[in-house]
Amino acid sequence: MRQHVLILDFGSQYTQLIARKVRELGVYAEIVAYDYPADEIRARVPVALILSGGPSSIYADGAPHADPAVFKLGMPMLGLCYGLQHIVYSLGGRVNPSRKREYGPAYLGIGEQTSFFGGAQLKSYNIKVLDQIPLFAGIPNGSCVWMSHGDGVTELPPGFKSFAETDASPYAAIGDRKKHIYGLQFHPEVGHSEHGKKILSNFLFTVAGADADWTMGAFVAEQVERIRDRVGGDGVVLGLSGGVDSGVLAVLLHEALGGRFHAVFVDHGLLRMGEAEEVVATFRDELDLDVRVADAGELFLSRLKGVEDPEEKRRIIGRTFIEVFADEAKKLAAKEPIKFLAQGTLYPDRIESRSIKGPSDTIKTHHNVGGLPDELPFELLEPFGELFKDEVRQVGRELEVPEKIIGRHPFPGPGLAVRCPGEVTPEKLEMLRKADAIAIEEIRAAGVYDDIAQALVVLLPVKSVGVMGDERTYEYTAVLRCVTTDDFMTADWYRMDPDLLARISARVVSEVRGINRLVYDITSKPPATVEWE
Ligand code: XMP
Repeated sequence: MRQHVLILDFGSQYTQLIARKVRELGVYAEIVAYDYPADEIRARVPVALILSGGPSSIYADGAPHADPAVFKLGMPMLGLCYGLQHIVYSLGGRVNPSRKREYGPAYLGIGEQTSFFGGAQLKSYNIKVLDQIPLFAGIPNGSCVWMSHGDGVTELPPGFKSFAETDASPYAAIGDRKKHIYGLQFHPEVGHSEHGKKILSNFLFTVAGADADWTMGAFVAEQVERIRDRVGGDGVVLGLSGGVDSGVLAVLLHEALGGRFHAVFVDHGLLRMGEAEEVVATFRDELDLDVRVADAGELFLSRLKGVEDPEEKRRIIGRTFIEVFADEAKKLAAKEPIKFLAQGTLYPDRIESRSIKGPSDTIKTHHNVGGLPDELPFELLEPFGELFKDEVRQVGRELEVPEKIIGRHPFPGPGLAVRCPGEVTPEKLEMLRKADAIAIEEIRAAGVYDDIAQALVVLLPVKSVGVMGDERTYEYTAVLRCVTTDDFMTADWYRMDPDLLARISARVVSEVRGINRLVYDITSKPPATVEWE
């Protein structure tokens, strides 16, 4: 089994960030539930365990607790925030509500002590011993860290020492060097912790003795072998959308299987200008993949006729997509031995966060384009089940997938239908396509496409009065929305150069018949979402 770190998830909003940071350091990391059995951990032989933070108080009713045997495994262990408190609680120390809660930045003084002497004394004493603490090797005494906790340690377990303090936390970093167990009250995984990555790196390489062997090149080679082994002489089909995930996956499968891989592109008629042609030109003509196009625009539009409710639109599109895809896949399977359906499912989609996270509200029904219809007799192949989105981009670069695919802004499965509040009609789609093409062209020409995570145009079902060439107009309003974000869970509106805004507005209003006004959306997410529906 590949060398890996296991992260026990106690429900922190930062758990996935820990996995990403560890992987960025070249060590494969996997998240498991907080109560993952110690026997299974022992059998997997991870190079280290990391206990994540979490929203609970360790003594609270129903607080998540790890299998107690985890603390006797003798493996290098790092607890972060709640993880630290769990270690203390499980190994015989005490945790209590802190007198001073800490949220946000704090100043970290580093040094070894067995009890709390107070800041000034500690800091002057510590400078001499800095490099003797493996976790803090190379970290200056006095840096900013990110705190988020109400409880704090009041008594260390036997054998433990405190290695760092903040104003409110005498036990900001603790550990038992002999057992290679450490705990940090702050969050080294967040960008605001100045030397957080170095601290994680010290834990992985100095404390746990890990090797940095997780590279995308190695991942691609390993996946190609695995796919060939699993698929044998059979075939694989994939729903290609032209986006990053399915596009890169298509190229990986083609690399592994050649002619035994088939892609189905469902043209639902809700695509952007020239999109269907571009997908075919790139994947079929340029990259030589077998791409079948299911031309279903009329079917989708007929089913959307008269439908105004956003969720109803999403459901209709989702159901129809599956139906059209399943038809194509069945036609293929009738001719060739196709046993597998591939999906570009990513790691964040797959992680079960279990009961510690309450059921969250359904904001939108995200239909999973290419989802496995129940009646299809295929086995599921998900080679990207271990990856984050930016890692898929790296895989794409390894496979020399054209940058125009890798660097593309995301596009929602239900397409332009969710950018057209109210009923979707061919006329509105036409206006949207033209306005979107102008906006993207101008954004690219200004050289800011890569600074924006997603740029889109929405056509509102609202008409307003205007004046063009001395004539009164009464036409639709378009919205330009551009956001910046890393993960699309939260987003900010992009501060666009006013001259670029002016160029886009002038061109949309003069070139797209039916639109006489353009507004710029300056709402972050939350409270708004990226798409309008
Ligand atoms: P929201 O509007 O939820 O969008 O803030 C976040 C990101 O998800 C994309 N999106 C979708 N992607 N199927 C998809 O594959 C969908 O149904 C869907 N809805 C939204 C959206 O474009 C943005 O990037």
